[in-house]
Parts: sequence; structure tokens; C-alpha cells
Amino acid sequence: MSTPKFETDGFACRVVDMKKEYVLKSETVRALRGVSFDVPEGDYVAIMGPSGSGKSTLLNMLGCLDKPTSGSLWLGSDDVATMNDDQLADIRSQRIGFVFQSYNLIQQLTVVENIQVPLFYQGKSLSKEQQLRSIELAHMVGLAERLDHRPTQLSGGQQQRVAIARSLVNDPFFILADEPTGNLDSRTTEEILQLFEKLNNEGRTIILVTHEDEVSKRAKRVVRLKDGRLQWDRQNSQEVRDAAAKYAIDNMPVEV
Ligand SMILES: Nc1ncnc2c1ncn2[C@@H]1O[C@H](COP(=O)(O)OP(=O)(O)OP(=O)(O)O)[C@@H](O)[C@H]1O
Ligand SMILES: [Mg+2]
Repeated sequence: MSTPKFETDGFACRVVDMKKEYVLKSETVRALRGVSFDVPEGDYVAIMGPSGSGKSTLLNMLGCLDKPTSGSLWLGSDDVATMNDDQLADIRSQRIGFVFQSYNLIQQLTVVENIQVPLFYQGKSLSKEQQLRSIELAHMVGLAERLDHRPTQLSGGQQQRVAIARSLVNDPFFILADEPTGNLDSRTTEEILQLFEKLNNEGRTIILVTHEDEVSKRAKRVVRLKDGRLQWDRQNSQEVRDAAAKYAIDNMPVEV
């Protein structure tokens, strides 16, 4: 394994000149054309950009689901771009938390069992401590009364909260969320954004992809991709974040 030429302490990840090409029969698609950015621990980043700009490709690389064609991706002090598939699978199950638009819960399992799923991928039986931790996480996302429910017995927002608890069970470098509020109404979106805010305030690093300005304004920082390149990378001021939160609450539909 190579040694980083720069500091990796204090960073959830560092992306250096990352390129990803998909070689098809008729053409080569350059999905990422040299993207560099750093995510300090505790950051909250929204990735935006038009359809086809490379957002999902970038998320797949950050989640160790696929390898860049060139460039580096430092997670902690490891360059995962040099790892083989087995090593990538280990990192993925041990240190990445995923949240998806469609929750991806296992219907036959209870809330607590769903939260434990990443631990099962590590191939060991659960320790007492891990079992307690998964219950603690269910409490933390507000599902203390639903520990034995199955996904079909939960609302969309509750299912997404299970997914968020699941993403935290392996103490990840960061939570990676692909359109986490894409399936949710505005009230439930607000609930999930407030949960992300709480987790971030507690020091969790969050990287999410969104198409919605109102969601991106709630993050600390917005990275915009265009044609596989980083178009801009901006911090949201606290005023912008507070105003977006206020707007969401003021414009909440009246409950009937
Ligand atoms: N597995 C693949 N094989 C070939 N081309 C791909 C593959 N995955 C993505 N691409 C291409 O790479 C480019 C970037 O795709 P990507 O899915 O990352 O975009 P995106 O920003 O997530 O778009 P959207 O907002 O529509 O989800 C597109 O031109 C896409 O067609
Ligand atoms: Mg996409």
C-alpha cells in the first residue's frame, strides 16, 4: 500500500485528479475528467450537477463500489484506488455508510435487524456491544417504539431513518446518501434533513447527492459537477442554511 504524500489526518476523504472512463464498444465515456476535492471530518457536502455530469459515478467511487480509472482516493491513510476488489469490499462493509433514495431495507427483517445488516457482511457473529449499539441507533433516529416492526409497517420517513441508523452502525468515514429525500414529501424531507443536521452537529461527515436547491442549501458546502469536472465548490453561509431551514418550515403544507 502506498504512503500518502500529504496529510490525511482530519480528512474523511481526499480525492486527487480522479478520472473514470467507461469503455463501451462504440465509444469511451469520460464520466469523470479529473476531479479533486477534500472532505474534512465533520463536513456536510451536497453534490449537485445536471443529469449525466458524473454525480453517481463519483458517489460510486467514494463508496468503493467501483474503482477510478486514474487518480487517488484517500480514505483515512489508505489510497483505495490501488486496492483490489476484496480489499474494496472490506472497506465498504467496514467503513462506509450508505443511504439510498429507495431506502433498500430488507422486508423480512425487523428495524433492529435491518440496522445490523452491514455487520453481517463482515462475516462475524454480533457481539453484545454491537447488538446494544444497533438498538441505541434505533433510539437515536426516533424509532424506540418500533424496534420489532418490519419495513412495510413503517412510513417512508421512518424507513429512511432506519436506513440512516444502518449507515452508522459500522462507524463510517462518512455517510454517503444518493438523493435521500427524493422519495419523500416536504414534511418528511424536513424530518430527514433535521436528522442529518443533528448527526453533523455531533461530528458525523455527510456527503449527499441532490437535485434540489432547497436540500443543498442545508449542507455546509456545495460541490457542483459539470461534464465530469468540478464546476465550483462553495461554502454555504450559516445565514443561507438558516434561511433555507426557515423557508422549509414556513412553507410546510398544513396537516389535514
Ligand atoms: N456503467 C456505465 N457504463 C457506461 N457509461 C456510464 C456508466 N455509468 C455512467 N455512465 C455515463 O457516465 C456519465 C455520468 O453518469 P452519472 O450516472 O455519473 O451521472 P449523474 O450525474 O449521476 O446523472 P443523473 O443526475 O441523471 O443521475 C453519463 O454520460 C453516463 O451515461
Ligand atoms: Mg445519478
